Amino acid sequence: MTLSVNHPFSFPVISWQPEDHEDLTSRLVDGAAKLRTDVKGAVLSHAWRNVGSREMFEPQSDEEYAKHGYSSYKSGVSLFDAPWLEIFEPLHQAAFQACYRYIRETPWDKPDADLENLGMLNHSWVSVYGDGHFIPEHVHTDSHISWVFYGASNEDSGHIIFRHPAAPVFRMSYQEDAEMFYETFKMPPTVGSFIVFPSFMQHFTEQHFGDEDRIIYSGNFVFRSSVTGHGTAYRMTRVAKDEP
Ligand SMILES: [Fe+2]
Repeated sequence: MTLSVNHPFSFPVISWQPEDHEDLTSRLVDGAAKLRTDVKGAVLSHAWRNVGSREMFEPQSDEEYAKHGYSSYKSGVSLFDAPWLEIFEPLHQAAFQACYRYIRETPWDKPDADLENLGMLNHSWVSVYGDGHFIPEHVHTDSHISWVFYGASNEDSGHIIFRHPAAPVFRMSYQEDAEMFYETFKMPPTVGSFIVFPSFMQHFTEQHFGDEDRIIYSGNFVFRSSVTGHGTAYRMTRVAKDEP
């Protein structure tokens, strides 16, 4: 008798610690402090959920950040531009390397692809979680691969939890005594490490507990062809602006 087991439809989530992680964590901690002081951002925890990601609440007082947590997400500030690029460029470089390693672990089947020009980072932000803070369940829209890098954390709390993309299907079919598949997958917030995952995968965190803040750097990667493919050029040249 023989038995063969296949796992054909996996959704990898990888963890990677770059060699220069100590430099990256200190840059992130410094950058986060400057952002929180200089840039009005969004709030997290229940305040984030109450308004939604499309029109995030941007408080005018530091007390709100202390109450709910802080994020430079949707602040209008780009960490890819000056003056922030000076601090964050090594983090961006590491993030690209992390995404590259993610692609390598998928069933990607184009050995001749120009991997250096395969894609680009299209968004990045920093979030600061105080005692009791968390991020509600969400996906990263308009992108393909996403990451989080931990600059500071109490590794005993604030775990990130991913939800199986097919959960809405099998959740309807099984009782508690016949659960064949994991619905969620939990990973600890390891300081100095990236976690990389597909952008469509829903995720959230447990509450962070501790006197020290949890500080993260997150962002998104898109495949270049989806942004600059032939279809875009075709539509731009096919119809002139004044053509009826
Ligand atoms: Fe996220």
